[in-house]
Amino acid sequence: MAESGKDIDRAHDLLQRGKLVAIPTETVYGLAANALEVSTVAQIFEVKKRPAFDPLIVHLYDAKQLPEFCHSIPPVFQTLYKAFSPGPITYILPKKEVIPDLVTAGNPTVGIRFPRHPLTRQLLQKTGFPLAAPSANPFGYISPTSAKHVNEQLGNYIEYILDGGPASVGIESTIIDLSGEKPVILRLGGLAIEDIEKVTGIKRIEIKTSSSNPNAPGMLSSHYSPRKNLLFGDMERNYKVSKGKRVATITFCRKVNCIPENYQRILSPGGDLKEAAAKLFKTLRELDQSDADIILAERFPEEGLGKAINDRLLRASTR
Ligand code: TXA
Ligand code: MG
Repeated sequence: MAESGKDIDRAHDLLQRGKLVAIPTETVYGLAANALEVSTVAQIFEVKKRPAFDPLIVHLYDAKQLPEFCHSIPPVFQTLYKAFSPGPITYILPKKEVIPDLVTAGNPTVGIRFPRHPLTRQLLQKTGFPLAAPSANPFGYISPTSAKHVNEQLGNYIEYILDGGPASVGIESTIIDLSGEKPVILRLGGLAIEDIEKVTGIKRIEIKTSSSNPNAPGMLSSHYSPRKNLLFGDMERNYKVSKGKRVATITFCRKVNCIPENYQRILSPGGDLKEAAAKLFKTLRELDQSDADIILAERFPEEGLGKAINDRLLRASTR
């Protein structure tokens, strides 16, 4: 087991000595390393068992550092940064040579994020170097939204987890590619597309999140998966095909008839998609560890964070 606590000096010291440290962000916990040290970054891939074609996001304290690592920063970046950073948005920008190819999986671009969690902001300010950090889970499994989740799976591989409490957003950052002529969304996430459209004035921003898209190598169709089977969509139909099995359900705000209450998870009785997103991964883990045989999840409203929730549930249900 790794130790966990709020000791920023210790986290800083470990990172400086080339070790990995798990860090809290408002989206999910990250497995962090000095992004400029190839040997440390290599450990991230080892510990996560992550394929080398899947690039990492680089975390910075603020935009003043950006020109050191990226070039050709378009004006729309400033608009988005002012409105949403620090926060759950990642910008894909052309990288400069200082960013190792291992970080970007050989891509000429790099994903940059300014996380909002105060502990990690303090840490970033202190280190001065950028932190490469994927979600702190074994590749393909559900992302961690608490220090305990990290410890359950990666506790034997790292010394220290900076414990910032439960993640408030609970779903990974929205990824927007700013390296082309027009902004393109590569991953639905903790910042709603509608908010991005409003601020930028773009009417229908292009969304390219399919697994076939080589620009988002990490967006494999099967991802965020519990070990148990998860059936997504029409609850009544999926219930019928689960005959004879012990069924657990995930719904937005309604109760399901004929399922015992302790096998039901209602993510937001009041119908708040942000609350539902914040609870999603914790709930998936909990049901994965329960004695249910199969998990049924309904489709959430296709608006706001509902889109990202549906995206994660769909991937969790694909084998
Ligand atoms: O909220 C988050 O973004 C969390 C926290 C820890 O910051 N991080 C996260 O990292 O979700 P990860 O490694 O689990 O997912 C990052 C994804 C990659 O799988 C890939 O699809 C995309 O970001 N990505 C990173 N760099 C890219 C690039 N240069 N071009 C296209 N996609 C990139
Ligand atoms: Mg991940």
